[in-house]
Amino acid sequence: VRERTLIAVKPDGVQRRLVGQIMQRFEQRGFKLVGLKMLKASDDLLSQHYRDLQKKPFYPNLLRYMTSGPLVVMVWEGHNVVRTSRLMVGDTNPAEAHPGTVRGDFSIHISRNVVHASDSVEGAQREIQLWFSRKDLMDWDSCDHSSTYQ
Ligand code: CMP
Repeated sequence: VRERTLIAVKPDGVQRRLVGQIMQRFEQRGFKLVGLKMLKASDDLLSQHYRDLQKKPFYPNLLRYMTSGPLVVMVWEGHNVVRTSRLMVGDTNPAEAHPGTVRGDFSIHISRNVVHASDSVEGAQREIQLWFSRKDLMDWDSCDHSSTYQ
């Protein structure tokens, strides 16, 4: 099974017109897009997505932030995509994120850190199931032009 991860452009990233630039980074790195949608997330979905953060003092603010506008949620596939994506996205705290990473280039504060990336292969599987139904994920191998889109 090929490795997949969930990447989401958070409401601040969508509002700031950063979606294209963020997607471009994943495309040019060589990953395959297998799922893509835009939505306003419900509190219920976010409480499942952030189930480990429910008791954190910043959780109410996080929920308000994440429901403040639409998200662009994507699934990317490829060799080592979970770990490589984390490196591309940069440290959770933008103050620690290196220049050249998404957060290191586009953000300054942890409460507006532009993008989400799954933190483990297991976490990615759980998150992908939460945000996407199976039929909305592309099986490139079944496409005629799969050989031109390795
Ligand atoms: P992410 O790692 O994508 O998922 C959890 C999010 O919680 C994190 O990004 C931040 O957006 C947010 N977060 C984590 N720690 C804090 C904090 N101390 N203050 C505000 N938001 C935080």
